[in-house]
Amino acid sequence: MSRVVVGVTGGIAAYKACILVRLLRKSGIDVHVISTAAALTMVGRTTWEALSGNPVYTETTDDAANVTHVRLGHEADLIIVAPATANTLAKLRAGLADNLLTSTILAVRCPVMLAPAMHTEMWLNPATQENAAVLADRGFQIIEPASGRLTGADAGIGRLPEPEELCEAVLCELGGDTSLAGKRIAISAGGTHESIDPVRFIGNNSSGRFGVALAREAHRRGGEVTIVAANVDSNVLKDARGVSVQPVVSARDLHDGMRQAAERADIVIMAAAVADFRPEHESSSKQKKDGTATRSLDLVENPDILFDLAHHRSHAGQMVIGFAAETGDGQSSVLEYGRAKAARKGADLMVVNEVGTARGFGNVDTAITIIDAGGTVHGSGQGSKADMASLVFDTIQQLQENM
Ligand code: CTP
Repeated sequence: MSRVVVGVTGGIAAYKACILVRLLRKSGIDVHVISTAAALTMVGRTTWEALSGNPVYTETTDDAANVTHVRLGHEADLIIVAPATANTLAKLRAGLADNLLTSTILAVRCPVMLAPAMHTEMWLNPATQENAAVLADRGFQIIEPASGRLTGADAGIGRLPEPEELCEAVLCELGGDTSLAGKRIAISAGGTHESIDPVRFIGNNSSGRFGVALAREAHRRGGEVTIVAANVDSNVLKDARGVSVQPVVSARDLHDGMRQAAERADIVIMAAAVADFRPEHESSSKQKKDGTATRSLDLVENPDILFDLAHHRSHAGQMVIGFAAETGDGQSSVLEYGRAKAARKGADLMVVNEVGTARGFGNVDTAITIIDAGGTVHGSGQGSKADMASLVFDTIQQLQENM
């Protein structure tokens, strides 16, 4: 699912941006509104939040713990500012960062579309014209204002184009990457729970965020994605709109789910953290204390799903990718453990990621190295899970081209 930031600045045409947000959401896009304080006097925060389904921020200091202007900018596939006032055009040209929208735009790498809307004289003023021309030169996409009735009694060029037109322009711009169109991708995410009794289980820390980021990226590239989700929180899964989700609990459920999803898949990715062992017997009633100070649990090994999928491919040319979450220790480094695992599992690529308190699990940055079964490095990087998901698919697709 693509993520679009709709920037709204203080023009009367802000009301049209409400319809734009609605249309984008209807097209399956995750929409985040960044409003300037002036725009909030036109349309209130509640309306934006209800229409977009996401919180709305205006200042760089809002949600400071998450460095919102950097995060929103990094995670966005596209930003559209509609309406863009003459004032905002001037600020963007000057590189000012005096509110969340201007700061975010300074921090982004994704395409930015600007839809100026203002009175004819303001639009035709040489200062505004020059600002728009400079911004276009810098790579901003300027959506020319339409002609027609303006806010007062006047008419002329300066109207915000209709929301349907803006939505189409956004979809057209996003449609750029269709590199996975026609391909099926099966991804496992989350961490398995191995039941001890009706209230206890053996589990792990995996949030499923990386798996969901991979699913989003594959969907953004036009792929048909199935995610087999082991105990992934609905808050995390909500980012996987447009993706078929099959919830599972245990390693054996995950095995069944992935075997089925892999049957038709061109790319199979095991991003889930699978418990290596499960209790030999699951008690049907809650286990009680019995006065002894110690208790032991008999465990049996779970199937190695990745090994199985890599060694029983449903058709020639199917790619199988595994993950190796490693901490490293006194004996071997993260990469050495990753290389050994790559050789053992038989997957085409292994994504080795370092996990620890500040890295890997949950909502934190990720550092990855992508290696093949022979240990050759095909890519590496560090950043948000969205960026790393993109790197994983770039690497997969590069390898496919060379096969
Ligand atoms: N995996 C799997 N089935 C298992 C265990 C792991 O499919 N029973 C997959 C994971 O989804 C991942 C890869 O194998 O893609 C590596 O998982 P990891 O837990 O790092 O490796 P293990 O094989 O469990 O090795 P170890 O615990 O010794 O590090």
